[in-house]
Amino acid sequence: MVRPFRWDPERKVLHLLDQRRLPAEEVWIERAEAHEVADAIRDMVVRGAPAIGIVAAYAVVLGFARDAGDSPAARFEDLAAALLNTRPTAVNLRAAIVRMRTRLETLSAASAAGRVRGLEAEADRIAAEDLEANRRLGTLGASLLRPAGKRARVLTHCNAGSLATSGYGTALGIVRALAESGREVEVFAPETRPYLQGARLTAWELMADGIPVTLVTDGMVGSLLAGGDMDAVVVGADRIAANGDSANKIGTYQAAVLAKEHGVPFLVAAPFSSVDLETPTGAEIPIEERRPEEIVEIVGRRIAPEGVSVWNPAFDVTPAGYITAIVTERGIAHPPFAASLARLGRTRE
Ligand code: MRU
Repeated sequence: MVRPFRWDPERKVLHLLDQRRLPAEEVWIERAEAHEVADAIRDMVVRGAPAIGIVAAYAVVLGFARDAGDSPAARFEDLAAALLNTRPTAVNLRAAIVRMRTRLETLSAASAAGRVRGLEAEADRIAAEDLEANRRLGTLGASLLRPAGKRARVLTHCNAGSLATSGYGTALGIVRALAESGREVEVFAPETRPYLQGARLTAWELMADGIPVTLVTDGMVGSLLAGGDMDAVVVGADRIAANGDSANKIGTYQAAVLAKEHGVPFLVAAPFSSVDLETPTGAEIPIEERRPEEIVEIVGRRIAPEGVSVWNPAFDVTPAGYITAIVTERGIAHPPFAASLARLGRTRE
């Protein structure tokens, strides 16, 4: 199974699979400084809400491994500010920073080396828990795609797979769990303009696993859902508000509206670290806007007239009313989500 990062505990360096170059080339790059990891997150070398949270945790380790500093608390806040500044929508990044801060506070009596070891162990735990969460939510989500007997057809959006997580994936974790249970499953992947995560990443990782995948353009989603033989839409999330409104890659909202129109279940799959009970509704979720070049160019080649104005929000919010269920490792939340998510929030692992 592909993973988007590798931590080297001996040399204290982070290896990142450069997702900008997939599927043409599988290139791993080495990052030894925290600010280089922040740049890698901003530049989409590594992307996907859980993955950026995990690599941010390792960036904190790098920040302490390279420079012990006089004041660990001040050093941490500098690192945290730089990392939080990279991509604002995915709450997993903030959740990972909060965990690292809490861990650091328990290390006040430790030596500089002991501090690095303690922080490293916490980053390892965040990574391991994410993998475990994906396997668990995958199995739970697969149970929603019964009955067996015919090949399950799933429409996804963007890439919520191994490449976006510690491995296995969230939306694609459900697909993998279905396949592992012996169920035939087939995925439809919209290309996901402008960054093409569907065409470049979802298609690549599913083909590597031998799971049938059909690539479509984003504009074909309506026709696909109207066709009547889609069993579910399954997507990931960057942040789920307390009322269930869910931010995910731009284009998810229209898939949700079309799914409701055509009576197709719409499932959001995410680790509980993507649930933000402090954000009441989707209206309060910050939506990242990215560079116009991502739209006016395709793989470096200009396709739109010079001077055209561009709007490039990276995410949209699907209102809770369009969501059939939110699948987390703690359990499946059903509407009304304010109550079901709050209940899962009180669940101890
Ligand atoms: O801009 P990206 O590629 O980071 O956006 C990723 C998504 O929107 C994913 O669906 C989301 O982060 C969930 S990944 C398990």
